[in-house]
Amino acid sequence: MGRVSRRTRADADFLRELAAAVPPLVERHLATQRDWLPHEFVPWSRGRDFEPDEEWDPGEFPLPEGVRSALFVNLLTEDNLPHYFATITHVFGATEPWTEWSFRWTAEEHRHSIAIRDYLTVTRAVDPVALERARMAQVSGGQVPRPDSPLDGVCYVAMQELATRVAHRNTGTRLDDPVGQRLMKRVAMDENLHYLFYRDLATRARDIDPSRFMVSLDRQVRGFAMPGTGITDFNRHSRAIAREGIYDLAVHHDHVLVPTVERTWEIESLEGLDAEGEQARRRLLDHMARLARLSERLRERRSSRSTRVADQHQDPARA
Ligand SMILES: [Fe+2]
Ligand SMILES: [Fe+2]
Repeated sequence: MGRVSRRTRADADFLRELAAAVPPLVERHLATQRDWLPHEFVPWSRGRDFEPDEEWDPGEFPLPEGVRSALFVNLLTEDNLPHYFATITHVFGATEPWTEWSFRWTAEEHRHSIAIRDYLTVTRAVDPVALERARMAQVSGGQVPRPDSPLDGVCYVAMQELATRVAHRNTGTRLDDPVGQRLMKRVAMDENLHYLFYRDLATRARDIDPSRFMVSLDRQVRGFAMPGTGITDFNRHSRAIAREGIYDLAVHHDHVLVPTVERTWEIESLEGLDAEGEQARRRLLDHMARLARLSERLRERRSSRSTRVADQHQDPARA
């Protein structure tokens, strides 16, 4: 993804047309969203002071490496909010009706980092020193996906909110702690509503200009990266998260791309494309087919690995 280019006249016209979809979507969001209080999701009674220079002990909250990495990455991703706010303000502009959404969205997102940080600090699930150093490095680094145009931005955020919902939800289900499960589920519910907002905004964008939509979507699907690439040791954490099955290529394909690109935006049957749009559709369909094959192979490898592990654990006397 390149830097945000200067807004063209076509982008400005497109945004003006798309803006009409915003007020009803904000209204629906506010009517659906259930308010919640972060402090009610934190098990304060399990906490104690950190002594000066106290070493964090992972044994106090035993977790598989991939689950710990997911908590770390999920929180740092939420912590990068100031940069996402800057990006969406640049993409949509700081005027009504866009700010009606972007300000509200920012307030909701901030709640996620408040709640997850408090939970991780109180339970000692993650090293607080490593976490704070990584937060400083990430936010100071300012690495954030920068979509090329408003339309690219809409496509990206729709997929990204869904990806975040899946990542939080899958992380929560791997926690052997009902309090943590409840918190991650609660955050994932917010992400779902953010996803629905952007998903329907993107559908409107598709209807306004199918060809430009296809070109942007193709670019964003092929270049998609979760907004965590600026995180310290991101690749190591991503591999651990993938090994745990919390988020990998197969999850991304099955639970993010298929529901949006194929089922919601129905790119295969979309009509009214010009030559450029048609070319983008062919490229995107090829890419989706390739991802489907890779995901299938990944699933097969995983299930044969888990069968092998299960065999090793079987009691030979009862086998
Ligand atoms: Fe969030
Ligand atoms: Fe979100």
